[in-house]
Amino acid sequence: MFKTKVCDLLGLEYPIISGGMVWIAKSELAAAVSDAGGLGLLGAGSMNPDELPGEIDRVKELTDKPFGVNIPVADPRSEEHVKTCIAKGVNAVSTSAGNPKKYTPALKDAGIRVFHVVPSPKLAEKAAAAGVDAIAAEGYEAGGHNGFEEITTMALVPQVVDAVDIPVIAAGGIADGRGIVAALALGAEGVQIGTRFAASMESAAHPRFKETMLTVKDVGTVVTGRRFGPTRCVRNSLTDAIHQEENKGATVEELLAFIGEGRASRASVSGEVEEGTVYCGQIAGLIKELKPVKEIVEEMVAQAKAGLEGLYQRNLQ
Ligand SMILES: Cc1cc2nc3c(=O)[nH]c(=O)nc-3n(C[C@H](O)[C@H](O)[C@H](O)COP(=O)(O)O)c2cc1C
Repeated sequence: MFKTKVCDLLGLEYPIISGGMVWIAKSELAAAVSDAGGLGLLGAGSMNPDELPGEIDRVKELTDKPFGVNIPVADPRSEEHVKTCIAKGVNAVSTSAGNPKKYTPALKDAGIRVFHVVPSPKLAEKAAAAGVDAIAAEGYEAGGHNGFEEITTMALVPQVVDAVDIPVIAAGGIADGRGIVAALALGAEGVQIGTRFAASMESAAHPRFKETMLTVKDVGTVVTGRRFGPTRCVRNSLTDAIHQEENKGATVEELLAFIGEGRASRASVSGEVEEGTVYCGQIAGLIKELKPVKEIVEEMVAQAKAGLEGLYQRNLQ
């Protein structure tokens, strides 16, 4: 019931991928997701080139299942990360934030499966033309960087499914089996989940970051940087201050200077949950406790299977 083309493509038991998350998606989390039957991704976006090889080795020590690496293309370190992935022979690479043409040929020549994260059907077409194996369609409710397009997962996924003829992975707003059923109903063949796995035992996030995610209610996340780089995170002192500056008419340059560098690591690594950026998706309102990844995946799969059967039965009546 759960085997999709994404499972075949990536060698998975379940079409469940944990998003590459800066500072948070390290070896322990990636290995736990892969070990549970999904695809764990390392988040290379926050890693220096000398850190990634060790993280890859550590995943290989922890699991013999397939895993991958997320590489934001626009990151100046991306080329070295790509070389590392090829040298180490990782199973899959997800590329985001940049042109999919840049690294797809080299990665595919090395036998690595490539999927690219997009926020719109138009960019999905571009990624498909660049030769990627699958598309992750990420809606505006997702944690972390969002598209300027502001298209939500519900509207985005079926449009991307219609726009390309390669498998589509739905991302944004999925944290349990119901979300998986919805994604499959929209035509997706897999899901990429960030927020739920960030709030897991194996996530490398600072304990205060995880606790903060659990306090998020329905309107607990906001988007900052709509003019220069939209980012969904927990509403806190920092996001209120940014919005105040925007309301005062600050220019993009002034806003960037006001925010400065290192806000994500201040929250994720140092636990400064008021002065740092706590990347987090809207679906955090559904998450009530921190759990081990294995339990999260088992619950999701059981709920999705029951949901699919339930839908079928309801449709028969
Ligand atoms: C803390 C955090 C950090 C993230 N960092 C990245 C990243 O470095 N690269 C990337 O492509 N996506 C990143 N994302 C997005 C996730 O990979 C994933 O697509 C998204 O979280 C899915 O939506 P959800 O948060 O509703 O589950 C991040 C998300 C979170 C919550």
